[in-house]
Amino acid sequence: MSPTTTGDGPVSSAAEAPATSAALRVTALSKSYGRTTVLRDITLDIQRGETLCLIGPSGSGKSTLLKCLNLLERPDAGEIRLGETCLTAPGADVDAARARIGMVFQHFNLFPHMSVERNVALALTSVKGMTREQARATARRHLDEVGLAAFARQRPSRLSGGQQQRVAIARALAMEPEVMLFDEATSALDPELVKDVLAVMRDLAQGGMTMAVVTHEMGFAQEAADRVAFMCDGRISEIDTPDRIFEGAQHPRLRQFLNQVL
Ligand SMILES: Nc1ncnc2c1ncn2[C@@H]1O[C@H](COP(=O)(O)OP(=O)(O)OP(=O)(O)O)[C@@H](O)[C@H]1O
Ligand SMILES: [Mg+2]
Repeated sequence: MSPTTTGDGPVSSAAEAPATSAALRVTALSKSYGRTTVLRDITLDIQRGETLCLIGPSGSGKSTLLKCLNLLERPDAGEIRLGETCLTAPGADVDAARARIGMVFQHFNLFPHMSVERNVALALTSVKGMTREQARATARRHLDEVGLAAFARQRPSRLSGGQQQRVAIARALAMEPEVMLFDEATSALDPELVKDVLAVMRDLAQGGMTMAVVTHEMGFAQEAADRVAFMCDGRISEIDTPDRIFEGAQHPRLRQFLNQVL
């Protein structure tokens, strides 16, 4: 199905790599809620295996951008491509596209009445069509990956917030997504629980997962990101390596933001 907008629009300076290596390609994306414009003409590529951290002040549009990327919100204009698939084309299979993108939110939303293992296995039977046995084995493997194999039979309420968030990560990973989106995955956690979740995210990044991570953890962005994008007033106003963002910030709003958070 051909997209309504052509692919020869403006390409950002961040899009130097060949088209084939972009896992996710966003072109001229805009979104408004009523009269409030939240995303303005965003063009962005995320390369395969890249970890992109999104930082910026409250209300700058970070969450809205992530929600547009997996079509939880419908953009008003622009194009989103996941590999070869145009997600914004008329008639695009939204459910199929979503199954290829994992999302982890601030609140983990586990089902309290199901075991940890069942929480992870649920979509594997209902969406991926696995048998219960296959789903259980896959769930165990991903719980092991986040260090929680021993908790498979427990209810989520028996786990700490950090452990529950790692279950939510395992649940997303079990779907074998091509891209993982994290929206402030550690913001609701007590400080001492943050580091285990960040360690899992760091392992994923090092293991070659393609990730877009909205975070207030500047240490994580500095160490784990390949690039950092600074969002401001619905635009990506800077995008560069962590070193250049954190040490060579030119943009006054970025400098002001970093002065507040570092
Ligand atoms: N469903 C909605 N309806 C109306 N306005 C919305 C909606 N969702 C977000 N907004 C507005 O869009 C703007 C961007 O919100 P968004 O949640 O994307 O910001 P953010 O950068 O994630 O901020 P934070 O760091 O506080 O999470 C804000 O002004 C917000 O009030
Ligand atoms: Mg947000």
